[in-house]
Amino acid sequence: MLVLSIVGARPQFVKAAAFSPVLRRMGREFLVHTGQHYDAKMSGDFFRDLALPEPEANLGIGSGPHGQQTGAMLVALEKVALDIRPDWILIYGDTNSTLAGALVAAKLLIPLAHVEAGLRSFNRAMPEEINRVVADRLSDLLFCPTDTAVTNLRNEGITEGVHRVGDIMVDVVRTFLPAAQALGDVPGQRGLKAGEYAYLTLHRAENVDPPDRLRAILMELERLPIPVLWTVHPRTRGALERLGRWEDLQAHPTLHLVEPLGYLENLAVLRQARLLLTDSGGLQKEAAWLGTPCVTLRNETEWIETVQGGWNRLWTGGSLAAMLEATPKTLSPMPGEPAAERMGEILQAALGNR
Ligand code: UD1
Repeated sequence: MLVLSIVGARPQFVKAAAFSPVLRRMGREFLVHTGQHYDAKMSGDFFRDLALPEPEANLGIGSGPHGQQTGAMLVALEKVALDIRPDWILIYGDTNSTLAGALVAAKLLIPLAHVEAGLRSFNRAMPEEINRVVADRLSDLLFCPTDTAVTNLRNEGITEGVHRVGDIMVDVVRTFLPAAQALGDVPGQRGLKAGEYAYLTLHRAENVDPPDRLRAILMELERLPIPVLWTVHPRTRGALERLGRWEDLQAHPTLHLVEPLGYLENLAVLRQARLLLTDSGGLQKEAAWLGTPCVTLRNETEWIETVQGGWNRLWTGGSLAAMLEATPKTLSPMPGEPAAERMGEILQAALGNR
C-alpha cells in the first residue's frame, strides 16, 4: 500500500506525526509538505520536535490569497501524484492544503481518504468550512472523530465510506504528553504559576482580520485579572501591527506575547493553565482531554461535544472576566478514543477489496 499524505499547516504536522509511523509500518508513505506554513516556528521545528519523517517532497508554495495559494498547490500536487501513482491520497482537516489534495485526487481518479471528516461549523464565511464540505464530498473514505460528524455527513447524503474511528488528536496527545511532562515547569520558566494564568491562541481570519473584532477581543483580554500567555501566530502579529498595537503590547503588564510554541511546550503550558482561550479547533479538544477549562473565542464550534460535556464555552461577546470567574478550577478529563490503528486497518482493507 502506497499512501500519498498531504500536510501543509501546523495542525496537520501534529496529526501526521501520530499517523505516519502507523502508515509506514503497514505499507509505504510518501509525505508531501505543500509549504503553506514555512517559518521555522510554524513548520521545521514541528518536524524536529515530533520526529516526523523528512517529507519526501516540499512544494514550497508559501502564503498568498486563497486562489493563488490553492491553485499553486494543485499544479504542484498533480505532478507528484502522477509521478508516484499512489493507492491513496490522504488529507487532514480543513486547510487550503486539504482542499488542493482533495481536488487533485478527484481529478486523477485516485482514491481519497479524509482524516477529521464530517466536521461542520455551518458558517460558510469560514474558509475552512468550504474546504471541509468539498473535501468530504470528494472523499472515498471519511474518517469521523465523533458521532456528530457522522450525522453531519448523513444530513448531506454522504453515507458510503464513512467510519467513526476515534480521534487522531487522542493519539497525538497520548504520544507526546510524556515528553511534554519531561520538559519540567514550562510555565515557571516563563514567570507564570501553574493554575494561575490563561493560555491564549488566536489566529482565525474572522477574529484577527477585521480591526473592530480584534479590538473588541483585545479589550476583553486586557480586563482579565490573571496573566495571559499569548502565543502569537504570524497572521495575528500582522493584524496587531496594522492596528498599531504590536509595539505597546510588548510591554503590557498582563498580556505576555511570545512566538508560536513548539508542540511539546504547548501541551505543557496547556495542561497547567487555569483557562484556555482559543479559536483553534485542536486545542479545544486537547484542553478537554487534559481537564483544562476552555473558552472558545467564536460564535460556534465544530467540537460541540466539548461544550455539551462542560469543558468548553463559547464567547459570543460580553465579559471574559466574568466567564473566567464562573469557570471551575478543576475538571475531570474528557474521555477520548484513539484513531490511528483503525484508520490504517481500514485503508488496507479497502485496498484489498478493490
Ligand atoms: C491556516 C489554515 C487554518 C489553520 C491554520 C493553522 C487555511 C485557509 N487556513 O491558517 O485552517 O487553522 O493554518 O495555523 O488553510 N505566515 C507566516 N509564516 C508561516 C505561515 C503563515 O508568516 O509560516 C503568515 C503569512 O502572512 C500568511 C498568514 O500568516 O499570509 C496566513 O497564513 P495561511 O497559511 O494563509 O493561513 P493561516 O492563518 O495560517
